[in-house]
Amino acid sequence: MAKKRYAQVGTGGRARFFYEAVASKYNETSEIVAFCDVNQTRMNFANSRLEALGAKAVPTYKHYEFEKMIEEIKPDCVIVTSVDRTHDWYIIKAMELGCDVITEKPMTIDEKRAQNIIDTQKRTGRNVRVSFNYRYAPTNTKIRELIMDGTIGDVYSVHFEWFLNTSHGADYYRRWHRNKENSGGLLVHKATHHFDLVNFWLGSSPEIVYAMGSLNFYGRTNAERRGVKEFYYRCHGSEAAKNDPFALDMEANPTLKALYLDAEHEDGYIRDKSVFSEEISIEDTMGVMVRYKNNAILTYSLNSYLPLEGLRVGFNGSKGRIEMEVFENSYVNAGGDKSNEGSVRSKKIMVYPMFGPAYEAKVEEGVGGHGGGDPVLLNDIFGVPVEDKFHRAANQVDGAMSILTGVAANKSIASGMPVKIADLVKF
Ligand SMILES: NC(=O)c1ccc[n+]([C@@H]2O[C@H](COP(=O)([O-])OP(=O)(O)OC[C@H]3O[C@@H](n4cnc5c(N)ncnc54)[C@H](O)[C@@H]3O)[C@@H](O)[C@H]2O)c1
Repeated sequence: MAKKRYAQVGTGGRARFFYEAVASKYNETSEIVAFCDVNQTRMNFANSRLEALGAKAVPTYKHYEFEKMIEEIKPDCVIVTSVDRTHDWYIIKAMELGCDVITEKPMTIDEKRAQNIIDTQKRTGRNVRVSFNYRYAPTNTKIRELIMDGTIGDVYSVHFEWFLNTSHGADYYRRWHRNKENSGGLLVHKATHHFDLVNFWLGSSPEIVYAMGSLNFYGRTNAERRGVKEFYYRCHGSEAAKNDPFALDMEANPTLKALYLDAEHEDGYIRDKSVFSEEISIEDTMGVMVRYKNNAILTYSLNSYLPLEGLRVGFNGSKGRIEMEVFENSYVNAGGDKSNEGSVRSKKIMVYPMFGPAYEAKVEEGVGGHGGGDPVLLNDIFGVPVEDKFHRAANQVDGAMSILTGVAANKSIASGMPVKIADLVKF
């Protein structure tokens, strides 16, 4: 059988997850055939990783040569792992030029771009896959199974807290994510995972959203209020950064150095800015209420300066309650090992039947990044697909539905009013 040919746009940290899997475990079914990025150094790094894994280096194209790449290389599918704000352009162009698409989350960052993707997919009939790895984490699949099986009857409400710590959480305030125009803020960039999980768990979609959010911890004004006196622009070469537990030392990490420090002369992408800068336009403290089409109510909170990383979620239903608690490892200041980003440190799912004794639901062991979901997702995309009774493969509608809660939440924060999802995108 001919191998499926993938071109990849965006060759930063997350890109490795895909191209390294294709070049190693899935090299019988798939091959990487080209890279595209604004930055040649990062594309060269990606090629050096392919060669280290026994694959051949592939042609590289600058971002303005994307269409040329598709015409010359004719890939079957484009993998989009670039900065969030650029996803829509590549997804749409790839479909128009006859390719299928696999895109990283968030599919895009606002409702207009989401509408364009939905419309283009309808017009071209191409496949769009959004790589929601968290659906595949054994704990999250288990919750879907328990709810599908009616373990707690109809679910009336969900209380969902996500904790981001001072390593992983802080990393969103150093670089492009900290500008809402690049990422949609954490209610889009990060919470797209969480809102997708709620849609997936409930088998429903959001109807109306109300939210509040503020920047309380990161940023210059907040640091000054806490009495911080010494400020710096970036960690590299700064004396002041040596006393800052939030500083990111790229010299100390060969991967971060090769991918970003050695590459910044080309495009000015500075990876290690201070999290206490003035330039931050995203929140760090967020609360959202959502009414779903099936009448369930979600209360959700996201904070990004915590001493722990993970989630707690409770489901209240007509026949009982489910509680899940998962704590994760994060990578940034711990060697930059992307493959283990978000691997599980501890997990527990408890079921409280309305009238019977409580019990712990058994969950299979998940190994690898993002709650153990990363390797399962890779097999689903690049391996031999198996029948999935949980329908975990996510498409453009799932991608849009998961960002629209965050997009609506951003609008609600700005206006102080509830926002209807039906007013944002027509499916
Ligand atoms: N599913 C997950 O768990 C997960 C984890 C991490 C990142 N991600 C996603 O992966 C994507 C990349 O994140 P990252 O952490 O690798 O960021 P990164 O900054 O390391 O990489 C982004 C890459 O995009 C390139 N780029 C910037 N502008 C571009 C343009 N106009 N055209 C082409 N390339 C451009 C940059 O040069 C860089 O190489 C994001 O969308 C992020 O949300 C997903």
